Amino acid sequence: MNVALILVAAGSGERLGAGMPKAFAPLCGEPLLAHALRGIFGCAGVSHVIIVAPGAHLDECREVAARVLAGGRPLVDIVAGGADRCASVEAGLSALRQDDGIVLVHDVARCLAPAELFERVISAVRAGSPAVVPGLPVTDTVKVVDAAGLVLATPDRDSLRGIQTPQGFLREVLQQAHSPANPAAGSATDDAVLVERTGGHVQVVTGDDRALKITSPLDLALAAALLQDGSYAG
Ligand code: CTP
Ligand code: MG
Repeated sequence: MNVALILVAAGSGERLGAGMPKAFAPLCGEPLLAHALRGIFGCAGVSHVIIVAPGAHLDECREVAARVLAGGRPLVDIVAGGADRCASVEAGLSALRQDDGIVLVHDVARCLAPAELFERVISAVRAGSPAVVPGLPVTDTVKVVDAAGLVLATPDRDSLRGIQTPQGFLREVLQQAHSPANPAAGSATDDAVLVERTGGHVQVVTGDDRALKITSPLDLALAAALLQDGSYAG
């Protein structure tokens, strides 16, 4: 089964405040998108990459992809994103090719995710899990609060995982999750929750610290430090 990867990169990066879409914000001299593509292109198991880009930046995106891509593989398609993450994933789904049987969804914001993380997720889907997410134990104590900030509950930390991308799915599972027929579709911060809400099973595999999500300027500084520290090389 061919593996396609939808890279959602159409966000505006408001919280990063770089004055440009996050995908083009520089990290050690290169746009986040270039870092993300290098990790993905380094993963032999991915044969088709769909980049979901900000509508006004398709040419810039094509240039970055051409610069990073060495040789003829994988196949790369570029499509314009939507108003929110879900709509961008759906735009990516519309560009799947007939042979794509497994689909990974990945955030450009996690641009330092190493090739081995992609391989781990793909392996778990191939081994029979229809939906797979990488996760790491949380180190903070997490509390559930109400709108007024009153604590309602403190879940046992041992049972909590911080969830990352890439998330991997059998194609029909992801398509069903995002179909208008799914009452849960529409607002979600990840794709697995759409599977969960319709009773589907989602498997967690071990995540990777390098797949940290770049949201704020502090995250960008942390990512730069990781890149410069040879022991974290992806
Ligand atoms: N994303 C997308 N299309 C959107 C919104 C988000 O493709 N309309 C993508 C982002 O590019 C990112 C991922 O979804 O890779 C997670 O979103 P987030 O980290 O919130 O990025 P931004 O939306 O760009 O940042 P912000 O919310 O600070 O504006
Ligand atoms: Mg956002």
